[in-house]
Amino acid sequence: MNDEYKFEIKRKRPEESYSNVNVYYSKENIEKYAKSKSLMRIQEKITIRTLELLNLPEHNSLILDLGSGAGFVGMYLTEVGYKTVAIDIIAEFLRYYDIKELNPIIADMCILPFKPETFDAVISVSALQWVYRDVNSKSNKLALKNLAKSVYSILKPQSKAIFQFYPKNDMMMDLIGKMFIENTPFKGGFMIDNPNSPKKRKIYLIMNKS
Ligand SMILES: C[S@@+](CC[C@H](N)C(=O)[O-])C[C@H]1O[C@@H](n2cnc3c(N)ncnc32)[C@H](O)[C@@H]1O
Repeated sequence: MNDEYKFEIKRKRPEESYSNVNVYYSKENIEKYAKSKSLMRIQEKITIRTLELLNLPEHNSLILDLGSGAGFVGMYLTEVGYKTVAIDIIAEFLRYYDIKELNPIIADMCILPFKPETFDAVISVSALQWVYRDVNSKSNKLALKNLAKSVYSILKPQSKAIFQFYPKNDMMMDLIGKMFIENTPFKGGFMIDNPNSPKKRKIYLIMNKS
């Protein structure tokens, strides 16, 4: 999918150091994340950019937010007039704020509890790197495959899924993109903002359902 763009994050990250996401997000880490005004601002900016890339026809479209955390993405989406369903695997994240209007559901985003063709769009911000973290893990591979298939199924025709995420390196990024393309009829690729600035770089996987 991407033959020229190379990068490698050298520092050790929680995604590679912890056995799973539930272990990393202790009560303390959930609180730190949910209370951070700067994180809220960054996630809001990413959401605005994602909406730009989605280019949705109308404001009351139904959007599924995968790996919603405390709900920063969904809060912005509802503020600007979209209907949202927020999914996260960690119940404490969904209970941190009163986010009833985001229709929160505790679930693994790789096994989506919805009927086919339910959503006008799928957004996932800073979560996908938790699903596929180890190239040698069969369960990571299976989870990603299931995610790709489920997302394809629950999207309405002529719609998009956009995943902003932080892969460890270009190889992981490519493998994730390939997994979507090889296991579903999705078409699409990557959009990389600020590719030359490791700090500002934002990677978006854009998947189109025809
Ligand atoms: C860095 S946080 C981002 C939260 C939110 N999207 C935001 O932008 O503020 C990553 C989130 O992904 C969630 N997550 C990771 N793996 C998941 C999975 N398999 N299913 C659902 N949520 C998952 C975590 O619980 C966590 O809330």
